[in-house]
Amino acid sequence: TCESAEPGLILPPAKSWAGQAPRPAEPGPPVRLFTEEELARYGGEEEDQPIYMAVKGVVFDVTSGKEFYGRGAPYNALTGKDSTRGVAKMSLDPTDLTHDTTGLTAEELKSLDDVFTKVYKAKYPIVGYTARRILNEDGSPNLDFKPEDQPHLDTKDEF
Ligand code: HEM
Repeated sequence: TCESAEPGLILPPAKSWAGQAPRPAEPGPPVRLFTEEELARYGGEEEDQPIYMAVKGVVFDVTSGKEFYGRGAPYNALTGKDSTRGVAKMSLDPTDLTHDTTGLTAEELKSLDDVFTKVYKAKYPIVGYTARRILNEDGSPNLDFKPEDQPHLDTKDEF
């Protein structure tokens, strides 16, 4: 751990592993990758199952917001998928329930970032990332990927 490291030991900057190792050298929570199929299993259909949704490729456990996201609740349609566009536009239209941000206005993008930070990151533990967020289109690791900070939340280390 960091505490047990020798004084004066300087960890390399995250960038230095680009093109070398497939994982960053720094310790941190393991990163779970969700395919669309996996994420779709957590849409709140079953009682007692966790409810997940992704915003900007970050998968949040929104189970504690069951009154919003559970079966029959007003925002259930956002769950089990990446609903970035819907969150940006405050829309539940099925065509907006996608990761795709193409053509969003500056105002919608600002709103997206506000809700991402002030609602999702502030309230709900991160449980992983969508494949789209972690990998390049050819399936190779995206070396610019950086996990989100969420130090105020005590996320379960279950992976
Ligand atoms: C008549 C329309 C709507 C009304 C009156 C409404 C009302 C509300 C209220 C009162 C809250 C806060 C609840 C609380 O914190 O206790 C909320 C949260 C929220 N609303 Fe709406 N809403 C509407 C439409 C929508 C639509 C169309 C979306 C589409 C994405 C949306 C997305 C959200 C989200 C993501 C939250 C945060 C939920 C959370 O804390 O996890 N709302 N809404």
